[in-house]
Amino acid sequence: MKIVIVGATGTIGKRVTEFLSEGHEVITVGKRTGQYQADITDAKSVRALFEKIGKFDALVSATGDVAFVPFKDLNADHWEIGIRSKFLGQVNLVTIGKEFINDGGSFTLTSGVLSETFIAAGTSATAINRAVEGFAQAAAAEIGRGIRINVISPDMLEDSKEAYGDFFPGHYGVASCKVAQAYKKSVLGIETGKVYKAVNNDYAN
Ligand SMILES: NC(=O)c1ccc[n+]([C@@H]2O[C@H](COP(=O)([O-])OP(=O)(O)OC[C@H]3O[C@@H](n4cnc5c(N)ncnc54)[C@H](OP(=O)(O)O)[C@@H]3O)[C@@H](O)[C@H]2O)c1
Repeated sequence: MKIVIVGATGTIGKRVTEFLSEGHEVITVGKRTGQYQADITDAKSVRALFEKIGKFDALVSATGDVAFVPFKDLNADHWEIGIRSKFLGQVNLVTIGKEFINDGGSFTLTSGVLSETFIAAGTSATAINRAVEGFAQAAAAEIGRGIRINVISPDMLEDSKEAYGDFFPGHYGVASCKVAQAYKKSVLGIETGKVYKAVNNDYAN
């Protein structure tokens, strides 16, 4: 299988790349890193990426920014970060990528645990994650050609605890290998329109 991984050098992406590399041709993409570079917020850049890569069987998106800002300070510029990057960026990968993916192929996008649990400064992340999931589930029903679309919703990773731990009080952190397995299930499995949760249920709440 020819698998394109966007965000392949990130905390999640590098583990997913490791898990999917065995027995498959994996193509790594980053904004500045990886075998190919593209900016998911720029439709022209996304199209140019697919024109270079050519036909493929599966695409994993493990990327997309959102702003973590207290609600009282959250303004239109902050919202635009999540909308343009994590939401429309991933939408770009599917809506442009569908012209290049083989019949029976799959798209796997990323949301996050904040689609179902709420934290201080997390309103934008919650809204954007739900938008990603809503897009993927509706598009999965309509896309046709046997193409599947799923979303992975990871908890905060153990590997990200140092960076994000203060934002996620009571979250233990989920092992990156558990998260990578969810991506593997989506890419190599048969289901579509699913949101796979990769969580560690050892919450303090
Ligand atoms: N880490 C967590 O605990 C966690 C938990 C739940 C959900 N998530 C979600 O999972 C996704 C990935 O998170 P992460 O922590 O793995 O991210 P990360 O470590 O910051 O890595 C981001 C990756 O995306 C690439 N990238 C950044 N901006 C891009 C753009 N505009 N166009 C194309 N590629 C771009 C980066 O490439 P360069 O290095 O070349 O810039 C890098 O490979 C995010 O949507 C995040 O919200 C993360």
